[in-house]
Amino acid sequence: MSINKFFFPTILSALIVGCAMPLQANDCDKLLFAPAVSKQVVLTMPSRENVAYTAYENIFYVANIENSTYQTLNIYVPETLNRGDSTPIFLRTYIGGYMATTAKSPSASDATGRALKDGYVVCIPGSRGANSTVSRNGKTIYTGTAPNGLLDIKAAIRYLRYNDALIPGTAERIIIDGTSAGGAMSALVGTTGDRPEFDEYLSKMGAAPTSDKVFASVCYCPITDLNHADMEYEWLYGCTNNGVRHLDAEQIIISNELAAECPAYINSLKLTDESDNLITSDNYKEYLKTFLIASAHKALEEGCEIPDTIGIIRFAEKPDFGGFPARDGNGDGRGAPSFGPAGMRPAFNNKTDYVTDIDLDKYLSYVASVTPLKTPPAFDQYGVLIDIPTPENKVFGNAEGTPSNFTEFSLRHRLHDNRATLGKDLMNRIFIMNPMNFISENATSVAPHWFIRHGAKDRDTSFLVPINLATRLKNSGFDVNFFLPWNRPHSGDYNLDDLFGWIDSITKK
Ligand code: DHB
Repeated sequence: MSINKFFFPTILSALIVGCAMPLQANDCDKLLFAPAVSKQVVLTMPSRENVAYTAYENIFYVANIENSTYQTLNIYVPETLNRGDSTPIFLRTYIGGYMATTAKSPSASDATGRALKDGYVVCIPGSRGANSTVSRNGKTIYTGTAPNGLLDIKAAIRYLRYNDALIPGTAERIIIDGTSAGGAMSALVGTTGDRPEFDEYLSKMGAAPTSDKVFASVCYCPITDLNHADMEYEWLYGCTNNGVRHLDAEQIIISNELAAECPAYINSLKLTDESDNLITSDNYKEYLKTFLIASAHKALEEGCEIPDTIGIIRFAEKPDFGGFPARDGNGDGRGAPSFGPAGMRPAFNNKTDYVTDIDLDKYLSYVASVTPLKTPPAFDQYGVLIDIPTPENKVFGNAEGTPSNFTEFSLRHRLHDNRATLGKDLMNRIFIMNPMNFISENATSVAPHWFIRHGAKDRDTSFLVPINLATRLKNSGFDVNFFLPWNRPHSGDYNLDDLFGWIDSITKK
């Protein structure tokens, strides 16, 4: 829809009539896109190219605002829309650490700037999080405990769709992008579109009465599957407990107990590989190795030097790189790995022969030596061995700001009060914050397209988390582009040529 139709009366009245209960009629007015001000901005990209766009900012996306600092969104419309009225909307969440985020403006150094340059409409919503508070009757109220951050993004999406006739681009092509806790939100938004579990919450907030489905989810290193992440971490990294990890005796007991719970979980997923073989706890590590081998292999193909000293990858024959440079870190202008300019890539005759296997334990020790591992339990840590809450304990906390455990395991292992139970409300919150619970064959709540990345040396969560997410999505019939980029730590919005090439391909269909 083009901008000159903002005040087109027929469209406005049609939208107001279309507003269903429980919103009041004047709530519908509040949710209409009618910005009083816009500004013209020029963003200079790292390539020095100037990208001109119009900014519409500080727009409230719910009728019942609880936290005015965070419950707003910004919309950015490039001068040239790449697909006219059918231009996709690139929605970037800046949630990190399960914390609140304000609505931000585009950055030349991440995917938002690139999206504008490529002619996409960009939306950047704020959202409440573990640290957002308001003061009520002299009391501090925590407003962003789970699932409120997720609800805010859903409400922002509903706002875009509700105003689809008024906002340039199409809400039927929303692509959500996030990193880490933001990657988890992207996965949740992408799996829970229009799920009834969220209806009551959203209607209480005064979210627009329309669909919150998205077209595609981009998940960089999603910190998700939180209620299984501890066991997945220990099952994978337990091999380092007596080596590089330096755990004490008590920690090793916790680690071993957690690891012992993981096989039953892996087997319960009933995942299958590309050849339809069942993936079980017995063959899972071989499955994981296929992704790491593909990653190392691609890096070699692209001219990356993988030193023998990390002792991880065995070559059938050591390639001679003839002095090709290691990555220079500046390939796409954002510190992403650039594995050497394409023209300098070594020509392999039989590329698939070079990486034959990985000694997984050694490789995991290498990962742990680059960034020290989390101590067990890695996520639901509060009250188990130490009393320090993690971001996850905080986001599952209550309105008074008291953190909470979110696994039966950690509750049982609390130092002081190990008889506490999760309770029905908390169990429901934990359930709806796990995207794995919403993926089934051709589920209508699930976005059709997925781009998932987790760095091959990212230890913030176990490799099992992104692999299970990607595999379950693929097994359920969805389009999944998944990779563990070599030598990547915990990070997002890298290799933007890859990402935007993929976005171009899915939005052309
Ligand atoms: C993030 C990182 C973590 O290791 C974690 O446990 C939660 C969130 C983050 O970067 O968003």
